[in-house]
Amino acid sequence: MTEALPGGWLDDVLARAEERLPRSVWRYVMATAGEGITSAENTEAWRRIRFVPRVLRDVREVSLAGELHGDAYRLPFGIAPTSLQRAADPEGELAMARAAAIAGVPHVVSSNAGHRFAEIAAAGGPWWLQAYLTADRADCLPMLESAAAAGARAIILTVDLPFPGTKHDVGDDDFSDVDLSWHRANYDGRAVSTQRGEWAADLAPADVSWLGDHLGLPVVVKGVLHPDDAETCLDAGAAAVWVSNHGGRQLDRTITTASALPAVAARVGGRVPVYVDGGVHGGADVLAALALGADAVFLGRVPLLALAAGGEELVGSVLATVEAELEENLRLAGCRNAAETRQLGA
Ligand SMILES: Cc1cc2nc3c(=O)[nH]c(=O)nc-3n(C[C@H](O)[C@H](O)[C@H](O)COP(=O)(O)O)c2cc1C
Repeated sequence: MTEALPGGWLDDVLARAEERLPRSVWRYVMATAGEGITSAENTEAWRRIRFVPRVLRDVREVSLAGELHGDAYRLPFGIAPTSLQRAADPEGELAMARAAAIAGVPHVVSSNAGHRFAEIAAAGGPWWLQAYLTADRADCLPMLESAAAAGARAIILTVDLPFPGTKHDVGDDDFSDVDLSWHRANYDGRAVSTQRGEWAADLAPADVSWLGDHLGLPVVVKGVLHPDDAETCLDAGAAAVWVSNHGGRQLDRTITTASALPAVAARVGGRVPVYVDGGVHGGADVLAALALGADAVFLGRVPLLALAAGGEELVGSVLATVEAELEENLRLAGCRNAAETRQLGA
């Protein structure tokens, strides 16, 4: 098994990623919307959660394994979809797929992946495809159909991006040192979408059922913060609801995902799984998210930066470290499984 990293590992990952990445890519990955309020608060919000540990319980054997969309996973945390993975490491999504498969965690591939879906599928285990829809749905259909044909097990429909919001902290860096085709490998030469009008600003509940029917796959809706919207997703046939504010990269000053999660989980009431991401940096954050009702927890920037800092091996070490932290915290909190984390009073 991959060794866990020593304490302070995240600072090292960040420093090495900053050293290695082209300046433009580093700034793009670290960029936030507005003043970065949501992005900073996401992280802080997990750290503010306090546990009431349970005692007098046999915690020699613990397991967080479970099944999501028909596949078994060892752990309830995984890799959120991020673009530009091939700019972070030449192996890009292939490295991420292998590391996720070895760790036994869910792996979500961005619409804007740098490798062909069939290659990603061959490299790792079960994977889910994240979808951005276009103003004319026909423009994104070939990409979505190729993901389904390559064996994607679920579609993660991102709904908090009617168009890409303005990123700050990006500076005047240009991307002349980066091959932008690295995030359009599955569009078969279709033009890179740069105009706001090319994105689906008219997303509606009907898109959820349409996507599911057309591709024959479960559709997860990513970017939900309001419990009423979670209900709308369920009415539209969503197979899971993903609480996210896009890592604070779309609308700044949204509520944090840690504060949105309990109400969404309560409204969903176990009818479908609830996922969450945003500012999750380690095992204690994952435990907090489980305690607040998440069925799976996703990390965006952390694995992407690990990929940049040390390739597949470091992504594997980061996943092993989060697992070790999570397992230790779980035992110390007196929990043997995910269900028991819900009694932590967090
Ligand atoms: C560089 C970068 C690229 C991203 N690309 C996508 C994407 O293609 N599709 C998507 O749904 N979300 C994308 N996201 C958002 C992530 O899926 C996730 O919601 C967010 O990063 C979680 O917050 P965290 O980075 O604090 O973990 C991206 C985030 C970053 C940082």
